[in-house]
Formats: sequence, structure tokens, C-alpha cells
Amino acid sequence: MSRLTVTGVTVISLFILFHDGYCANILFVTLFPSISHQKVFQPIWKELSLRGHNVHVIATNPLRDPSLANLTEYDISSHYELLKRMANNTNTRDLLLTKPSFFTTFLKDIILTEKFSKLSEITLSHPEVQRLLKTNIQFDVVLVEWLFPTMAGFGAKYNCPMIGVTSLGAPLVALDTVGNPSHPIIAPDHNLPVTRDMTFKERVLSTLYAVYVRFWYHMVVLPREDKLVKKYLGEELPYIGDIERNVSLLLLNRSPIFHRAMPVVPAVIELGTTLVNRERPEMEANLKAFLDESKQGVIYFSLGSNMKSIYLPDQLREIILAVFGRLPYNVVMKWENDTLLGKPDNVLISKWFPQLSLLEHPNVRLFIMQGGLQSSEEAIVAQVPIIGLPTSSDQLTNVDSFVKYGAGIALDFDYLTAESFDATIRKIMTTPSYHENVKELSKLISDQPIDGLQRAVWWVEYVIKHKGANHLRSTILNTPWWQYFLLDIIALFITVLSLILLICYVILKVMFILLKNVEKLFLPRSEEPEHKKRQ
Ligand SMILES: *[C@@H]1O[C@H](CO)[C@@H](O)[C@H](O)[C@H]1NC(C)=O
Ligand SMILES: *[C@@H]1O[C@H](CO)[C@@H](O)[C@H](O)[C@H]1NC(C)=O
Ligand SMILES: *[C@@H]1O[C@H](CO)[C@@H](O)[C@H](O)[C@H]1NC(C)=O
Repeated sequence: MSRLTVTGVTVISLFILFHDGYCANILFVTLFPSISHQKVFQPIWKELSLRGHNVHVIATNPLRDPSLANLTEYDISSHYELLKRMANNTNTRDLLLTKPSFFTTFLKDIILTEKFSKLSEITLSHPEVQRLLKTNIQFDVVLVEWLFPTMAGFGAKYNCPMIGVTSLGAPLVALDTVGNPSHPIIAPDHNLPVTRDMTFKERVLSTLYAVYVRFWYHMVVLPREDKLVKKYLGEELPYIGDIERNVSLLLLNRSPIFHRAMPVVPAVIELGTTLVNRERPEMEANLKAFLDESKQGVIYFSLGSNMKSIYLPDQLREIILAVFGRLPYNVVMKWENDTLLGKPDNVLISKWFPQLSLLEHPNVRLFIMQGGLQSSEEAIVAQVPIIGLPTSSDQLTNVDSFVKYGAGIALDFDYLTAESFDATIRKIMTTPSYHENVKELSKLISDQPIDGLQRAVWWVEYVIKHKGANHLRSTILNTPWWQYFLLDIIALFITVLSLILLICYVILKVMFILLKNVEKLFLPRSEEPEHKKRQ
């Protein structure tokens, strides 16, 4: 969409907004210290404040922009220190950043929900959040990062409509809050390590997980979080499990084109993965010169902001550098240290790159990445094919989508050899179809009636205007589980069928007895003696 149209849309909707004469008080609560999550949310709260709403944000990544006069930010960026401490503990890091196996999938969920609970408590007790709680603002709507239940307490605290937002899909239990049906084969949990065409083992995993995760959530997670909500936000609040089911809408940064197409209820709005902040920072002179000179092609290597390259085991790093050293291409590598032992001459390292600007350079022809959603989106925007080395959360499914569209190849850190890595790189660099396919994917995804950001803002104002979205509520929310699984209907069918069978049996039995008697009455009596005669 051109800048002109975007401005046009903004002007028109500003007119409608002021026409309705509505400036709302909005609270936006985020808590996960991950820039790739927050990059999706920042434009939403910025845009809402520019449209004249009075926006308050609990932010791990505050914008700190004094020109945004209607924006108040409560800075919880200290959460990043917690993340650093966690990354220094190699056991936790290994569990969270390595690809889950069948069994560690469950273990990982147990550990993650515990960590999320700690993070929620640290957030609620944070001086900045306490500062917010001391003010007497009445909010018209509360937006909450919808990956974990605790912060939904704010919706009940301010007794106003609530909207859940995520920077990716949503966990099964989060989709349950709006009654979205999540069949384990059609719509497995977005973090499960399963591929698009699920194998039998993957289907077993997905089914077991769907049962387990709900059990754990309702038996352990919700009661634990309920205590936190009551402790910090008020003893009088309802049970957190009831509060969260009061949510009006979920805004998910997912697209049925890139993600698995799944059925969604009207209260789930798929924003279409176009939300990334499309700013393109200037490239430093030396990086630009390096790219300009690399006429034979450049490969960009980055494992994102959470899984850092310096965490790679020595053996893997050596394989990767050895392969890079003998390629006829140049390599730009995100490396979070000033020095890199054994760095080949054709490799340029830096702790940070203006990723989208870099990817859009015409000489960049391959992106080797971990499969995070923001990086995947940027690869699609810049139309660069990928090699995916997924390790955790939704990365496996994201990489699988590139593979499905013929726009990339998946490799596995556990089985990475110099030969396979080298051959895969050369294959993508020399086969034009990978670039053509990512171009096609890019066209499909960007062809939308309305940009993801405008869609998000429209729905937030919709909820403000109608004081919630009760009229969009799925009937599943009022359906007991035994009705949902048709247990009463099945019971009726089984009863009726049994009755019919029973009646048939009785009729047959009676007929049989009758026939026997008829036989005695009508068959010639001589038969029996005859029979005896023969003996
Ligand atoms: C702040 O909101 C008012 C209306 O409430 C609006 O007129 C003004 O333009 C907004 N300022 C900024 C910088 O967004
Ligand atoms: C649900 O929200 C409405 C207002 O939006 C509120 O009156 C009601 O108490 C809420 N219920 C729960 C269980 O939070
Ligand atoms: C950065 O590199 C230096 C020198 O090789 C090394 O001593 C240090 O541990 C590295 N830092 C990290 C965070 O890996």
C-alpha cells in the first residue's frame, strides 16, 4: 500500500473518529522481553495515540518519543536483565533453545508456564506498574499480550472490555478463551514441533498435548495465577479463569497464507502478518560498501535476537565457518561479540544489522535464519529465500511454510554436516525457483484489503464504540464439554440402537420359538419313528 493511501485511510478514519466524538482511555499491557514481540505492538499503541486516544502502556520496549503527547509509558525494560540472567544459566537455555523432542515438549511447557508466572509477578510488583495502579484513571478498553492469563486481571480491575493481542499465533488455551475450536489435527498448538502434513507420531503428540495442556492449565496454572491477581490487583476480583473468558476479541498476527489455515470464530481477528515496523534504518558505510562490492551474491546469517549465534556449540560454529570460508559468495553474519575465532575473510560480522534494509539490498540472495516470525516476514517482504535452522516455539512451523511454498529449505542443527550445509547453500544460490517462489508468496501475503495495523486499530475502536463484542461471542463458550463432544447425543444413539437390537432379538427369539412349535404341529409325525427304524 502506498504512503498516500495509508495517509488517506488515516485521514478518513480520523474524520469518522472525531465525527463520533470519541477519545478513549486505553491501557496496553505487554510483558515479554522480546523485541520481536514488541515490534508488532509498538505501531499499534503509537497509532492509537496519534488518533487522539489517551494511551497508557506497560512496556518492555517503550518508544520514549516526546512528540507523542497522548502516550504515557510505564517502563519495565528491566525485564531484559532477567532474560540475560536466564541465558547465562546454560541448562535453562539449552532446554528453551533446543528443538523439543516428543517428551521435552511437555517438560518445556511446565517450565515455561512457571517462568511466565514469575515474570507476571515481577511485572505486577514492578514500581512502574505500582505507579499506574496509584493513578485514578478509568480505562475504556484494556489490551493484553495474550500468551499468559495473569495480566487479564487488569481487564477486571478496570471493569472494562478487554482485547487480547499476540505478535504470532496463540496457544491452545488462549484460543479456548474465545471458544475457538482447535482440532488437534487441523489446528495443532502453534508451538508444537510438527510439520504441515503431520505424521502419525506427530498426530499422537498433538492429541496428547491438547489433553495435557488443558489439564495443566486448569489444574495448576490458573489457580496459581489467580493468587497473584488477587494479591496485586484486588481480593474482590473474580476467578482469573472467568476473567479471561470475558475477553472481547483476539488480534493475532497470523495469516492463513503463511500459517496453517485454521477455522476461526468471529472473535479471532487474523491481522495477516504485515504488522512489522517497516522502518528501514540507514546501513553503515562499511556494510553498504561490502554489499555493493559483492557482485557474486551475499548470504545473510542471523539467528535472531533470542537465540544468539554466540550460543552455538563450538563444533557447529566450526562447521558453519568452514563452509562459509570455501563459498564463492560473501557472508554477512550476526555475531554478538567483537571477535570471532577463525573468521574467514569473506565474512563480515556485526552485533546488530538493520535487517530489512540489508535483506532488500539487491546482492543479498539467501537468508540463513532460525525461523522466527518477524525474520520470516522480513524475508518475505524483501523476497529472499531462506535456509531455516529452527529450534523452538513457532520456528519449526514457520520454516515448514517456506518449504511448502518452495521458498526455502529446512536443516536440523542436530544433524548438520559440512557437506549438507554446503550443498544446501549452493542449491538455493544456483536454483532460480527459490527466489521466484518467495516472490510469489510475498505477492500473495501483501494482497489484502486493509493493512494489518489499520485492521488492528479499527477493531480496537470497534470494541470501544460498542463497549465490548458480546454479540460476537462463540456459542461454544456456553456449551458444557459433554455437549461439545456430543456425549449426550451419542448416549441417546447408543440407547436407541441397543433398544432396537434388543427388540429385534426378542422378536427373532419369539419367532424362533413359534417356528419350532409350528414344526411340531405340522410336520408329519411319522418322521421320528422312521428315523428310529433306520438305526
Ligand atoms: C492528542 O490528542 C488530542 C485529542 O485528544 C489531539 O487533538 C492531538 O492531536 C493529539 N496529539 C498528538 C501529538 O497525537
Ligand atoms: C465481564 O465484563 C463485564 C464488563 O465488560 C463486567 O461487568 C463483568 O463483571 C465481567 N465478568 C468477569 C467474570 O470478569
Ligand atoms: C567474546 O570473545 C572473547 C574473545 O574470544 C571471549 O573471551 C568472550 O568470552 C566472548 N564473549 C562472549 C559473550 O561469548
